[in-house]
Amino acid sequence: MSLRAWRLRPSPKAIAAILENGLGRANRYNVIDPLVELLAQHHGVPTDNVLVGCGSTEFLQFTPWAFLGDGGDIVVPSPSYGWSAGVAETMGRRVVRVPLGEGGAVDVARLAKAFTRETRIVYLANPNNPTGVEEPTGLIEDLLSGIAADAAATLNKLAR
Ligand SMILES: Cc1ncc(COP(=O)(O)O)c(C=O)c1O
Repeated sequence: MSLRAWRLRPSPKAIAAILENGLGRANRYNVIDPLVELLAQHHGVPTDNVLVGCGSTEFLQFTPWAFLGDGGDIVVPSPSYGWSAGVAETMGRRVVRVPLGEGGAVDVARLAKAFTRETRIVYLANPNNPTGVEEPTGLIEDLLSGIAADAAATLNKLAR
């Protein structure tokens, strides 16, 4: 994986399902509700906790709007997919870029050291773009345990 996302085409089953159950019902509102319910059931959370959007950029765009409106920093590994960092910059917020560690892996200790009382978002793309390195779940849990309760963790996870 690099700045171009994925080399495989969508599965023919996915294309058939989109044509039949998605585009085939595009004249109706709220066709997304059954998907939200299934996702909520799968993750054992209320439907209010599930947002479905048009790709991840939509969410990467409004995470800084939601959490940095009154100020605060965003901590990001670097290099990484920089949409939220760019949005934060246009808002005049501080972007703390933490260089990747050995072999392009995220340096959790260094990332955690970059957190301050002003940190409102820590962002992680997994697998990372442009390195393609995938971080183990344990590392992500370590990272989450180090952030303040009122900060947000954005995990930009590419599903396969
Ligand atoms: C890590 C990462 N996040 C988000 C995106 C954008 O995703 P989407 O097309 O779902 O908005 C890309 C696209 O290359 C990406 O590499």
